[in-house]
Amino acid sequence: MGSDYQQVRAALEQAGQQHLLAGFDALRGPEQAEYLRELSALDLARVAQLRSVLAQPAGAQDPRFAPPQIFPLQRQGSLEPRAQTARARGAEAFASGAVAALTVAGGQASRLGYDAPKGVYPIGPLSGWSLFEIFARKLRAAGARYGFRPLWYLMTSPANDAQTRAYFEERGFFGLAPEQVFFFPQDMLPALSPEGLVIRASATSLFRAPTGHGGVLDALQRSGALAHAREHRVRQFAYFQVDNPLASPFDPLFFGLHLAEGARMSSKVVKKRDAAEKVGVLGYLDDKLSCIEYSDMPAHLRESVDERGELVYSAGNIAIHAIELGFVEELTRGALELPWHLAKKKMPVFDPQQGLVEREGIKFETFVFDALGFSPQSVVLEVAREREFSPVKNASGADSPATTRADMCRLHAGYAQRAGWEVPTAGSEGHPWIEIDPLLGEEPEHFDTHGPRHPQRHPKGHLYS
Ligand code: UD1
Repeated sequence: MGSDYQQVRAALEQAGQQHLLAGFDALRGPEQAEYLRELSALDLARVAQLRSVLAQPAGAQDPRFAPPQIFPLQRQGSLEPRAQTARARGAEAFASGAVAALTVAGGQASRLGYDAPKGVYPIGPLSGWSLFEIFARKLRAAGARYGFRPLWYLMTSPANDAQTRAYFEERGFFGLAPEQVFFFPQDMLPALSPEGLVIRASATSLFRAPTGHGGVLDALQRSGALAHAREHRVRQFAYFQVDNPLASPFDPLFFGLHLAEGARMSSKVVKKRDAAEKVGVLGYLDDKLSCIEYSDMPAHLRESVDERGELVYSAGNIAIHAIELGFVEELTRGALELPWHLAKKKMPVFDPQQGLVEREGIKFETFVFDALGFSPQSVVLEVAREREFSPVKNASGADSPATTRADMCRLHAGYAQRAGWEVPTAGSEGHPWIEIDPLLGEEPEHFDTHGPRHPQRHPKGHLYS
């Protein structure tokens, strides 16, 4: 055995991970070399840190949680004038090019069961436009509306980065200039067994999983995206998830309020549909703004209602944030670390004796909303679900392509009605089949000045493009 092997062996032994070399002698020469490269790249200091997280006792079962202060959807008194001023301020910020879009698209789309990056999924009810294309059109629309050239920072993962880039190339970046889009992959981390042992995916590779969307902060920094944004005079990021085609990154009210408040990170929420809805909930956790995941929220909090019978903890996280660039710089300078969340899952584990077997493993993730607690001020803006939130998560049932398409059709039918355009009658699904290109408008007011328009011929319904 060569000195590389000796070195790797010594390091693994010291870290208590020597099981990774089981079966090494049985590998052929090139495989041994490949596996040694993989093992040399393993960050054992990081593994030690993850092991210590594993050893920590679970957090408090009964957190002290209080609802956040919300800028409401139904506005009375001085709030509407404040909203008007904020809209003007947000529009100015867009026009100056100070706000760039930031999308997290590094997830594995496993619940959707789609064998390509989720952003490629054809969600447009009639157009068949992908999630990526819809966002690209929204960016172009915002650019035309406010008179600027939006930049788009798009986080992929090592598993879908090449496919995502190739897709944008093939489709001519959907009318954006290639230099408007900055792709950057997130980090992957090894998964551990419940005993803290690094898991193998095959005879020559380790099991690595994406680090959760909290990885976006580090990835922005490491990839040079943050420096690129600063050079291009970006001061704020409009963050959203790839799974929600109703997200409108450039919302002047949201950014106007965020800027007026001097907030470093802000969030949009919708009223939770019911106690069981699978969204995180925003609130103060031990006096810090935070988001409790639906799976972590004790039932008595989840179901708690006030005297009018309304949910007390109803600020549903739709994962749309305004994030100040300087805040990301500070967070990634090293001092502040986001907490780790552990996801225990059955996963295919390579065992040198038995081959691939299903075993319990643990993935380590961080969540971007945990950064809210580091922001001294935040705006929590309530928005209308039907306008801004309809995520594609599952293959069928709730939050699936079928529900998202139906929501898009209903929303667009309202816009068409407002503009006096023809709306087809509702189909058997209970909604008319209609779709409007975001380039024509994406808020009710955008349709007030439109003249009559004719839909494109489409066998199923009306596509206005
Ligand atoms: C997420 C939020 C939840 C919120 C809901 C709204 C978490 C833990 N929860 O739930 O509070 O109410 O969205 O739709 O986020 N992603 C990456 N890299 C990763 C993991 C995820 O880029 O390593 C991206 C995915 O591509 C996706 C987004 O993050 O765009 C959300 O991830 P997902 O795991 O689907 O979160 P949810 O459980 O749906």
